[in-house]
Amino acid sequence: MAPILSGKRIILGISGGIAAYKSVTLASRFTQANALVDVIMTHSAAKFVAPVTFQAITQRDVATDTFEFWHDAGRLRIGHVALAHAADLFIIAPATAHTIARLALGLSDDLLSITALSYKGPMLLAPAMETNMWTHPATMRNVQILGDWGVDFIGPAEGRLASGEVGEGRVAEPEEIFEVACKVIGRGGPLDGLRVVITAGGTREAIDPVRFMGNHSTGKMGVALARAARDLGADTVLVHAPLAVHPPGGVALVPVHTAYQMYAAVMEDLPQTDVLIGAAAVADYRPSASADKKLKKLPQQQIITLERTPDILQAVGQRRGNAYCPDPAGPDRQRPRLVIGFAAETNDLEANALGKLKRKNLDLIVLNDVSAADSGFAVDTNRVILFERDGNREDWPLMSKEEVAQAILQRVVARLGRLNWQKRRP
Ligand code: CTP
Repeated sequence: MAPILSGKRIILGISGGIAAYKSVTLASRFTQANALVDVIMTHSAAKFVAPVTFQAITQRDVATDTFEFWHDAGRLRIGHVALAHAADLFIIAPATAHTIARLALGLSDDLLSITALSYKGPMLLAPAMETNMWTHPATMRNVQILGDWGVDFIGPAEGRLASGEVGEGRVAEPEEIFEVACKVIGRGGPLDGLRVVITAGGTREAIDPVRFMGNHSTGKMGVALARAARDLGADTVLVHAPLAVHPPGGVALVPVHTAYQMYAAVMEDLPQTDVLIGAAAVADYRPSASADKKLKKLPQQQIITLERTPDILQAVGQRRGNAYCPDPAGPDRQRPRLVIGFAAETNDLEANALGKLKRKNLDLIVLNDVSAADSGFAVDTNRVILFERDGNREDWPLMSKEEVAQAILQRVVARLGRLNWQKRRP
């Protein structure tokens, strides 16, 4: 679920291309997230997919004609004006070359373009067209014009096109559009202007070219945290070891494999990082030497010597100063404003978590009992206890990992003094 979309009004514009069928999934995804989706179709879009399909999915009127009136709270309104004024987000998917050109020229010769011209909020376009149309200087110029006005684009991707050719021009997948829509609508939220870096997944330490030491982490918690930070307007970076779940859209992804690579990626970003959340299961040891050829089995035992890896969170937590209060020792000593860790424990839960909070000099640690059936790796739920630097302890009820992530990010908002943040509209 994406609470950021709940109750939001989205105009989903559909222009005429075969990719229009994918927008049925998109409309359904938004509706399931409790958004109110008003679909506007061009006449050619209505030749690809019948308006009644969108009507059934969104359970709302679908408009194609400029001279239609709109039913709103029992009143008849002028369609395009009422829609444009009420919307929180305007998406056009697929956006054809023609529709993009009309928007860039400010034309208003059908309901979609006239509504777009009457609208002032965030807009997201998902172009879909043949490669030559996309790379044509006219289209490139139109995209540039719209980009300069603050319109966001997602895609197009490379892939098989309607013509049967393979190339750039394929519409972005509905799930990607959905994720980027969350980011666009969350922009200007309480974490606006702040950079949140999250580590996720389980690192892998090579034994030889085909084997590694790993762990059971799926990355679900880290991915949920990245989505929650993104939806609150943060500039979000996910430094992730291999994930068993899809990485989130609208987030900068930094893929790594080993603990050392994760350490280097986090350190490289540190001067810009405002909040670091360590949700990764980082290997504490790695083989002292990784064989360059596949190890052959021995008759009895194989002994692999291990050496320690860096503790990422500890290295960051123990820095002095932060971006807003730099330490005189120089920029390399900067510490993010908040450093948050997880303690995945099977025994002596509280003592272990408090030990890590202190040793790593964290602001907050989230304890979960990974031996519990509803709170460990690969499950969708988590039952956590929060310990804060000032001694505060909170036991949270069983929640989905998404809910835990949202609650942690709400705590970040509170700790940064942004609870009453006024969302600025572009
Ligand atoms: N962590 C880290 N770098 C490491 C090890 C852990 O950044 N090399 C982070 C994890 O992402 C987590 C927190 O530290 O947020 C605690 O991780 P955990 O594996 O529970 O604890 P360890 O520090 O490894 O301690 P121990 O092995 O004694 O439980």
